[in-house]
Amino acid sequence: MSATIRLQPSGHEVICDSGDTVLSALEKAGYIMPNNCRAGACGECKTKVLDGAFDQGMVLDMALSQEDRASGYGLMCMAKPLSPSLDIEFGTIDALQKLFPPTSCSATSGRALPCGPIRLPTPLGPTARSSC
Ligand code: FES
Repeated sequence: MSATIRLQPSGHEVICDSGDTVLSALEKAGYIMPNNCRAGACGECKTKVLDGAFDQGMVLDMALSQEDRASGYGLMCMAKPLSPSLDIEFGTIDALQKLFPPTSCSATSGRALPCGPIRLPTPLGPTARSSC
């Protein structure tokens, strides 16, 4: 079951597919949420949940204390919605997307480039060795 994540105070909505965490749903939609470990250990993604139910999953108490939980906070890197909608405190009134997953890349010449890793020629050649 997918869920709707509503960002407050903007009211913008993001669809969270079944099995996705709130963090991954936000990233798929182009939003940047602070994160570090993505495993419930650092607390970087701690966010206040204003309405709705979620499965917090396994997280460390040092990242999300019992007081945090009692105050409605959750770690979004591990949180999965259980209710049809989840309201979270995130961003500002405009809360614009900041990530733009590239569908194509272009150089300043306007020539289309393939997306993905770019291999640059090494000036020393493939057999060169560092003397450090
Ligand atoms: S990113 Fe570390 S707890 Fe969520």
